[in-house]
Amino acid sequence: MSESGTSPRNTLSIRDNRTGRDYEVEIQEGNVIRAMDLRQIRVQDDDFGMMSYDPAFGNTASTRSTVTEIDGAKGILRYRGYPIEQLAEQSTFLEVAYLVLRGELPTQDELDEFVHHVTYHTYAHENIIKLLNGFRYDAHAMGIMISSVAALSTFYPEAKEVHDPENRWIQIIRLVAKMPTLAAFAYRHHRGLPYVYPENELSYTGNFLNMLFRIGVKEYRANPVLERALDLLFILHADHEQNCSATTMRVIGSAHADPFSALAGSMAALYGPLHGGANEAVLRMLTEIGSKDNIPEFMESVRRGERRLMGFGHRVYKAYDPRASIIKKAAHEVFEVMGGNPLLDIALELEKIALQEEYFVQRNLYPNVDFYSGLIYQAMGFPVEMFPVLFAIPRTVGWLAQWEEMLEDKEQRIARPRQIYVGEGERAYVPVEERS
Ligand code: CMC
Repeated sequence: MSESGTSPRNTLSIRDNRTGRDYEVEIQEGNVIRAMDLRQIRVQDDDFGMMSYDPAFGNTASTRSTVTEIDGAKGILRYRGYPIEQLAEQSTFLEVAYLVLRGELPTQDELDEFVHHVTYHTYAHENIIKLLNGFRYDAHAMGIMISSVAALSTFYPEAKEVHDPENRWIQIIRLVAKMPTLAAFAYRHHRGLPYVYPENELSYTGNFLNMLFRIGVKEYRANPVLERALDLLFILHADHEQNCSATTMRVIGSAHADPFSALAGSMAALYGPLHGGANEAVLRMLTEIGSKDNIPEFMESVRRGERRLMGFGHRVYKAYDPRASIIKKAAHEVFEVMGGNPLLDIALELEKIALQEEYFVQRNLYPNVDFYSGLIYQAMGFPVEMFPVLFAIPRTVGWLAQWEEMLEDKEQRIARPRQIYVGEGERAYVPVEERS
């Protein structure tokens, strides 16, 4: 019973004070109302009706999803219900990829089949190399990746059949399989090195490291610690629910574009420094700070609002990003093999200050996934331009899972937000000679 003595109902009462009319809208899932239920609220019968205004979607759910759950206040991240800590500790990237894409952990047979298919689709059409060769020697690896993934759509025109689940699965396998190849080719192009083709007997990350770093030897085998560290980083980056790039994938996909074109769009979103480009921005920031002595001046400019402390803050996490804690631990293992990264001391000092200072504490600014990942990538020998690419490879899995879910969701239609028009009203055209 509510305070007034009536039985509680799962509804929200709204009084429109313009008309004095009362409305009752259903509350779903404990705290959700349907924006469309507001449309009935109108002054005149021919009014458009009420709508909500939510720039940057800060308080709007665009979908129901079963892929990834985040509790930002508690720092919880789960893929299909499995805590990220358990997957990071016990799983492999391809097993997690299967989980994210298919909804369940695979049996051994299912996993073997999936790994086999991914392994046997790693080759890219030779004309992709011609495309790569058209880029300048210093082209950013992410620009090359975006273009080559978009170009793949022209090699697989049947990918347009987005309503055929079997066809979708083939394209998903192709994308998961070819991303490391394209990424390695982008890196080799940048370095002016000959391309190294995939080797089927290697693991997903082992093969990737081989295509990246084999020079002058017939056989290159990555250090198992580095192979595992990269696999772990891939697990941590596999999905992150309705972020900017996943939303891009869903929006482009909602127009029924093929998955290669849609994924190129998601990668473009990820490239931005506020999203997946942040790991690169963190490294550039740490390099610019250069020494612990320069930290106070840098932090002062952040407090004055002139700069952002890259790798800190998150729209959803208002606690320590669980991925950042796992990466921080893994960093030490990589540093043991590769030697320390001198920028780590600056990073640790920045974190120490930020976790104590009022500016950051008040705004719940904690390290996010990008704060420490760049330090590991750099220790492993990756140039900063490769950092967002290293994010895009595993996130391909999440984008594709989100895309599939959107296509299967009967409630989804072409994405098309409303606007509040605040421009000029109607006015008559003025010929150019009469304009002042
Ligand atoms: N450094 C300094 N101040 C910050 C930062 C930061 N990194 N992030 C947020 N703030 C301040 C911001 O100025 C604002 O202050 P005020 O209320 O005084 O105006 C307040 O905190 C809220 O910020 P916001 O921009 O409204 O928060 P948001 O949810 O829109 O933005 C964010 C989230 C991730 C874009 C932002 O925190 C940011 O720019 N961080 C740095 C870039 C970064 O590390 N991005 C990676 C995100 S995690 C991985 C991924 O998504 O790819």
